[in-house]
Amino acid sequence: MWDHGDVTTTAVPEAFTEPAPSALFLLGRGVDLASERGVECVGALPSPSDPDLVERARTARAALGGRAVVLGHHYQRDEIIQFADVTGDSFKLAQNAAARPEAEFIVFCGVHFMAESADILTSDAQQVVLPDLAAGCSMADMATIHQVDEGWDVLTDVGVAERTVPVTYMNSSAAIKAFTGRHGGTVCTSSNAEVALRWAFDQVGGVDGDGKVFFLPDQHLGRNTAVERLGLSLEDCVVFDPHKPAGGLTEEQLERARMILWRGHCSVHGRFSAKNVADVRARVPGVTVLVHPECKHEVVDAADMVGSTEYIIRALDAAEPGSAWAIGTELNLVRRLAAAHPDKTIHYLDSTVCFCSTMNRIDLPHLVWAMESLVEGRVVNRIVVDADDAHWARVALDQMLALPGL
Ligand code: 13P
Ligand code: SF4
Repeated sequence: MWDHGDVTTTAVPEAFTEPAPSALFLLGRGVDLASERGVECVGALPSPSDPDLVERARTARAALGGRAVVLGHHYQRDEIIQFADVTGDSFKLAQNAAARPEAEFIVFCGVHFMAESADILTSDAQQVVLPDLAAGCSMADMATIHQVDEGWDVLTDVGVAERTVPVTYMNSSAAIKAFTGRHGGTVCTSSNAEVALRWAFDQVGGVDGDGKVFFLPDQHLGRNTAVERLGLSLEDCVVFDPHKPAGGLTEEQLERARMILWRGHCSVHGRFSAKNVADVRARVPGVTVLVHPECKHEVVDAADMVGSTEYIIRALDAAEPGSAWAIGTELNLVRRLAAAHPDKTIHYLDSTVCFCSTMNRIDLPHLVWAMESLVEGRVVNRIVVDADDAHWARVALDQMLALPGL
């Protein structure tokens, strides 16, 4: 639980605040493919305007039956969520993929790093399919294995590596997870970051000792967890910039730091600001502000509650009828929450923040194409992690799955 401070909620009779359409809404597909992982799908996709698309999806899903499981992240479009056998945050979906040995195909409606994790956690006989290979993650792409290896060399040269445990957020490539496994670290998600950080510090003398965590690639989740949950200070945190020599840090800064945060962030959650929180409080008396820990520290500090997507869903399920909420997370999820809770008033924290463009690349035409191809015996867009990376990434993922209290 990340709650801080008493939460007062007051009924405010107002409908869901739908953000105004913007050019960013159009980023769902086909834009600047060269800058993102994957490029477009090969093969004939059904047209998005095809009125028979839903029926075709139903038919293909029924034909696949128990041979396939369709996993849907909470940020997926409604048109996809309706076909998901399981919906969840990245942690729940990873657990679910691992718990489905009977499924021949895992159709992963999420982003690339999640599908890689599913491939690592499932047997060689199971095949993971990502309906659009361009569904990457800008945050995951902010840490390449080459940069991270160089960063570790810096820590080794300065003499702090042996007192440092790497922890990588689930939102990272399989190669980065493997780096973490090779160096005795763990993976974490936004649901278990606190437990993972406590475990990591325990490997090097505890939170009150002089050991360090090298946290990849989301500086905000790392800082928020360290400061809000572990009681470390902002001064204990330094940011390692892979584009600067030695990360832009002096030996003394690295020596003093407890949290060495990679300079990465989520391009969706990173857009919320403390001003958004102040504005909504001025506009909606008694509103409870609930944000994801990928938001900047100033936002988390100004909010009433902080938590992963699963936490946000549970908090709204438990909320009093008539209460008013402002939510700082991805728009597809907030819109569904608003529709599911007509007895509560749900605002979007900032009307200029849009959908996650890469999550949105998975649309019904791609899902139909992927499922129909499987029915015809063609496995398209299979995600396969190379054996050595898969082995070491699995070590780090198993460490996460074995964390106490999960
Ligand atoms: P969770 O699913 O762990 O809450 O992470 C949010 C996210 O940004 C996924 O890409
Ligand atoms: Fe990546 Fe952020 Fe999109 Fe999640 S919401 S997939 S972290 S860009």
